[in-house]
Amino acid sequence: MAGINYSEKIPNNVNLAEDRTLQRALEHWQPNYLSWWQDMGPEGAQGYDVYLRTAISVDPKGWAHFDYVKMPDYRWGIFLNPAEQDRQIHFGENKGKPVWNDVPGEHRSNLRRIIVTQGDTEPASVEQQRHLGLTAPSMYDLRNLFQVNVEEGRHLWAMVYLLHRYFGRDGREEAEALLERRSGDEDNPRILTAFNEKTPDWLSFFMFTYFTDRDGKFQLASLAESSFDPLARTTKFMLTEEAHHMFVGESGVSRVIQRTCEVMNSLRTDDPEKVRAAGVIDLQTIQRYINFHFSVTIDLFGADQSSNAALFYSAGLKGRFEEGKREDDHLLKGDSYTILDVVDGKLVDKEIPMLNALNEVLRDDYIKDSVAGVNRWNRIIEKAGIDFRLTVPHKAFNRKIGTLAGIKVDPSGQVISESDWNARSHQWLATPEDREFVASLMTHRVVEPGKFANWISPPPLGINRQPLDFEYVRFN
Ligand SMILES: [Fe+2]
Ligand SMILES: [Fe+2]
Repeated sequence: MAGINYSEKIPNNVNLAEDRTLQRALEHWQPNYLSWWQDMGPEGAQGYDVYLRTAISVDPKGWAHFDYVKMPDYRWGIFLNPAEQDRQIHFGENKGKPVWNDVPGEHRSNLRRIIVTQGDTEPASVEQQRHLGLTAPSMYDLRNLFQVNVEEGRHLWAMVYLLHRYFGRDGREEAEALLERRSGDEDNPRILTAFNEKTPDWLSFFMFTYFTDRDGKFQLASLAESSFDPLARTTKFMLTEEAHHMFVGESGVSRVIQRTCEVMNSLRTDDPEKVRAAGVIDLQTIQRYINFHFSVTIDLFGADQSSNAALFYSAGLKGRFEEGKREDDHLLKGDSYTILDVVDGKLVDKEIPMLNALNEVLRDDYIKDSVAGVNRWNRIIEKAGIDFRLTVPHKAFNRKIGTLAGIKVDPSGQVISESDWNARSHQWLATPEDREFVASLMTHRVVEPGKFANWISPPPLGINRQPLDFEYVRFN
């Protein structure tokens, strides 16, 4: 695999220099991207020198390089995993045929829609997180936030490359529109609901990177199976970066829990009011944040019965999570899958054709993966000797999409009436008071190297083997 030519305006391993038309299209888009970054990227932080990793190749042994960089000078590049020789389509109706290096006419609009929908989430999260730098609990965390932000920017580049390279004029228009929509904007919002929610505080940020970036992992993993080879190769490389985003979320929530448990033990209390009075986040509030982020995120997988999901699979556009590791016929024609249905106000199992259930299959895989981290959080609480366990809510809880949107259930999955829901949902979902309390702990930024806000424990290790008191951000 060729290295990256850093003398080019746009670092890449796709031989951009040989395709003048494409290069010009991207060079035309680049200033618009930068002006979007200035407007919507991390607030007040454009002049900081940040200790960031930059992707410089796709070599698994050394794909990134760490150094100080001002974010607007970050080298957002285009990197695809190397093409596998003679790769074949491995699921759906074209199974066994060679993968596509171009977009087949009949799949053009569906592939464009898939790429635009994925692409739209990337700048959306940067917009959602743009104020968080002002209240960072440490320099270490501030740097991690910025790392996530610049890499989401690079993921946008990855999708825009595909639009420009393979979709002609419509692709260029979509690429512009990706810079025009705004998270939460009434007139021109981002495409998916979870990406129009606010990420107003650091507990939300950690929950978002744990739960919602993990949705990204599952979406990218299923696109990494695609018969459209450039999409498969670019999403594979995006997954390399995505792992750090989920680490930020999982370890962030771990450290919040760790600190809360320490305070609970030193005060010998489990009274959430006393815990709050000590300036840390009570476990009950953490649970309500989990309930919110989990339920909003699982909606991202779409309707539980979907003819589009069937079509995307059979056409070979989007596979299942770890398609290659599954031992079935990869056609799924006669197979069925059990989903939840609502009959007479009750939840019942229902068998439906597997192909129509593929959104649900991906959601269930996601749920398994999410629960694993929540169990790791519980070990911290258990180790501290505290009698409290966090859980993810039932998958029918607080749903807005698909069959389950038609019913109200409590976090344990008990069906309840609408009026019961109205009376009790504040016990389950983060309330405005919860959010106000959490925000009250985060009124300013902790700026000295090695210092951490009271509500969070330091991490066990620094970034790139640097010490915890390393100067991760130079404010200048
Ligand atoms: Fe991303
Ligand atoms: Fe991410």
